[in-house]
Amino acid sequence: MTKTDDDVDGYNDVEEVLRQLRTAEEEKRYAELENKRLTDEIERLKKELNRLKLPPLLIGSIEDVIDERRVVIRSSTGPSFLVYTSEHIPTSKLTVGTRVALNKATLSVISVIPEAYDPTVVAAEISEKPNVTFEDIGALGQQIREIKEMVELPLLNPEIFRKVGIEPPTGVLLVGAPGTGKTLLAKAVAHNTNATFIRVVASELVRKYIGEGARLVRELFDLARKKAPSIIFIDELDAVGSRRIDSSTSGDREVQRTLMQLLAEIDGFEPLGNIKLVGATNRPDTLDEALTRPGRFDRIIEIPLPDKAGRVDILKIHTKKMNLKEVKLEKVAEITNGFSGADLKASVVESGMFAIREGRDHILQSDLMKGVEKMNVQRNRASQGKGNLEMFV
Ligand SMILES: Nc1ncnc2c1ncn2[C@@H]1O[C@H](COP(=O)(O)OP(=O)(O)O)[C@@H](O)[C@H]1O
Ligand SMILES: [Mg+2]
Repeated sequence: MTKTDDDVDGYNDVEEVLRQLRTAEEEKRYAELENKRLTDEIERLKKELNRLKLPPLLIGSIEDVIDERRVVIRSSTGPSFLVYTSEHIPTSKLTVGTRVALNKATLSVISVIPEAYDPTVVAAEISEKPNVTFEDIGALGQQIREIKEMVELPLLNPEIFRKVGIEPPTGVLLVGAPGTGKTLLAKAVAHNTNATFIRVVASELVRKYIGEGARLVRELFDLARKKAPSIIFIDELDAVGSRRIDSSTSGDREVQRTLMQLLAEIDGFEPLGNIKLVGATNRPDTLDEALTRPGRFDRIIEIPLPDKAGRVDILKIHTKKMNLKEVKLEKVAEITNGFSGADLKASVVESGMFAIREGRDHILQSDLMKGVEKMNVQRNRASQGKGNLEMFV
């Protein structure tokens, strides 16, 4: 009677206990996971806390490497110290000039920190290639060929120079009147090559503080070496490269220090190295002779004012997108003797303005003539102001 009932009840009890056991086991597993998660979190926060409690590290640079574990460092505070280095740092990383972090109390080297480049130098590196191509340059066919042979070819195919047994030039100097397309040419080279292209305007290298210009030059060349093959383009070179005169102002002396550093860096190149220099100037007469010695900027590419055929070329390029009506560019070229590429471009833009002023959507020959006339007036005014540039006009 009740026996069967008991049996059934007992059976139900067992069922119930088993179910509870399973639930408890699941909860246990969950709690264990949660526990692990929280332990990890505690661990992470402990580490973070330790990092935040860490004393500040001094910054210094290695001046000399004595042996495996000892180096001479120069901290930002001034004097040099002989210190030990952490075992975690591979000895190969300990080289003269490397920036390192130092323990504040013992000044031992804790870690190597990556080179910091001056923002101007980094900005100078053209990561986006300039969108100037050789097709955008008129009249300079021969100069384009020369710069390709002297700069591009040795970087792309150094073997051919080795085989022939000649040394490709280290540096090429583009020389010509303002507005003749020197900067344009360098940008087209940059566009055309796979090499890293670093452009600086020399005046940006000249700084207010003593030694800064030299440091910038050093960083510039470091960057070029690190990203080789590369082309360094120094525009308006005369800003640092002017002939050394017995100068008394500290500003002039700083310019010279920068120049000296530049020369030192250039001389450090191997002839068949994978860094090429391109300079540009419109004042070659003022350049320090040291810059143009063999092994430095020793090849000169002259960028002349365009002749008549060249002017037609350049006019074609700059009027390509313009709505011209019965225009003879030949005629414009005839009356623009002495105009640079930049002058021609400006004339063309002016002619467009004349057309707009008269409510037309196209440009007539008379607009171009007026544009040229306007540029002529401007050119005359400019050449009266700057006696120095007279020689090019
Ligand atoms: N040979 C040329 N062909 C086409 N455009 C030119 C040429 N020379 C100069 N220009 C025009 O004049 C502008 C200024 O030239 P740029 O290369 O800056 O002269 P610079 O020789 O002073 O460096 C260029 O952006 C371009 O529009
Ligand atoms: Mg220029």
